[in-house]
Amino acid sequence: MIGKGRCSLVFEAKNEVSKRVCIKIEPCEDCSQITNEINILRNQLFDCIGVPKLLFDGETEYLGTMWRAIVTDVVGDKTLEDFSFGDRLVLEDVANQAIDILEAIHKRGVIHKDIKPSHLVFFQNSLYLIDFGAAGPPGPSDLVTWRFASILGHFKGLDLDEKSDFESLWFSFLSLHGKLPWDGVDQGNALTLKLRSKPCDLQQQYPTLANIFYPLLEAD
Ligand SMILES: Nc1ncnc2c1ncn2[C@@H]1O[C@H](COP(=O)(O)OP(=O)(O)O)[C@@H](O)[C@H]1O
Ligand SMILES: [Mg+2]
Repeated sequence: MIGKGRCSLVFEAKNEVSKRVCIKIEPCEDCSQITNEINILRNQLFDCIGVPKLLFDGETEYLGTMWRAIVTDVVGDKTLEDFSFGDRLVLEDVANQAIDILEAIHKRGVIHKDIKPSHLVFFQNSLYLIDFGAAGPPGPSDLVTWRFASILGHFKGLDLDEKSDFESLWFSFLSLHGKLPWDGVDQGNALTLKLRSKPCDLQQQYPTLANIFYPLLEAD
């Protein structure tokens, strides 16, 4: 097993020609997220840069329970969470790859809605975005991860959009430098601190990242 989600289990396996594949399963009785992911990977994001390819989907029995399963062609060796940046150029490159992926999925009408470091994985020297369980057209989501939630994501029922994904990506990259200003703070105060953590506010501290994210987050 290589990972565990809200109710999913994730495994690495080999296919019939010994290629590494990723298998993700979710119990059939509560499989709305994986079903959403299957539809999006198949209908909207097939052959999209930085997105795992859906190789198979179906049902399987495991530990006496029925599970909905998907097989994809990306098995990340590490996630952005495990990454440490010594080099400014590496940081720039990874941030630009992540932005390119978001721009590509947005062009196809998909907002990810749960961008965080553990959903960005490295595979064969490239970055991939995983977990499209909460993804969909612009609209609300109940599944946001508070630590990386965009400002709109703090308001239940408000529509998340392209900018919300970029904001969560900005917070994800900030978190690589250590604690986020709102770690350990309640939700109301976290929102205030996020409003004070735009790229223009942190230009002095993180010039490289701030310059990359400024054009994506400052324009309204
Ligand atoms: N293709 C993959 N390569 C490497 N790790 C993965 C892959 N897919 C999932 N994981 C790991 O498993 C965890 C849970 O998978 P995820 O798709 O986020 O499930 P959930 O929808 O339940 O949150 C991820 O955070 C990641 O650590
Ligand atoms: Mg997840």
